[in-house]
Amino acid sequence: DEGLRRMKSWVKKLALTGILAAVVVTSLSGCGNSGSKDAAQQKKELIVGTEPSFAPFEFQKEGSKSYDGFDMDLARAIGKQMGYKVEIVSMGFDALIPALNSGNIDVVAAGMSINEERQKAVTFSEPDFTESYYTSGLMIMVRKDSNVKSIDDLKGKTIACQIGTTGEKNARNVANAKVTAFNTNDEAVMELKNKGVDAIINDSPVVGYYLAQGGNASMKTVGDIMEAEQYGLAVKKGNDKLAGEINKALAELKKNGEYDKIYKTWFGEVKK
Ligand code: ARG
Repeated sequence: DEGLRRMKSWVKKLALTGILAAVVVTSLSGCGNSGSKDAAQQKKELIVGTEPSFAPFEFQKEGSKSYDGFDMDLARAIGKQMGYKVEIVSMGFDALIPALNSGNIDVVAAGMSINEERQKAVTFSEPDFTESYYTSGLMIMVRKDSNVKSIDDLKGKTIACQIGTTGEKNARNVANAKVTAFNTNDEAVMELKNKGVDAIINDSPVVGYYLAQGGNASMKTVGDIMEAEQYGLAVKKGNDKLAGEINKALAELKKNGEYDKIYKTWFGEVKK
């Protein structure tokens, strides 16, 4: 009868409203989860780019898929301190800055020396030498039987280096030298071993580590460390927020002893 019909249609309406309300609420809350937060916060993950032929800063043990080294431990510790998951990806050294600026990676951790030219393209973590994360400088490595004694002796000689590095830049400044730039440092070392070149120019701690790991059987360094270079972690140009967070985390790790611990693991002493 009439009463029952009205009751039924009322129940139908109520049910329909309920479904509608549920749909609205779900879509709204879905919106809240994805739309409003910025990308980095939402994924809470830092993609860190590196070029792993640079022991003891970044390298892969034979057959290993994970990344070892001072930069890698430091990047993971900084990410953890900031509350981010860290994913490390590998590419050519000369691809790192373009990858940063195209947004494919968030941070470069690759023993990258801070200099004016690069500061035009990216923003670095703390550059000051007492605050920077590592102080380095370039060194010359030759075969043990070489009579090269200094950078002056490299004039007119052949030099190997890694593409896009400060080592390449310095090699190209040597008068009449023939410079071969390789994708990886391992290839440059191989070339020196095979007597394809007279010398290598690479970062002093990397050359030192190579010699200490057995390279000194056939190789040696000559001359002094060239001018000091500060390493920096790089972020996309102008991302001062992320650079600031990194500096803050780095300062905290320096204060709480974690930085010293990592430094000691790879260099056997703490940073002076
Ligand atoms: N410090 C030098 C530079 O900035 C060499 C860095 C090479 N790093 C690497 N992961 N291969 O150019």
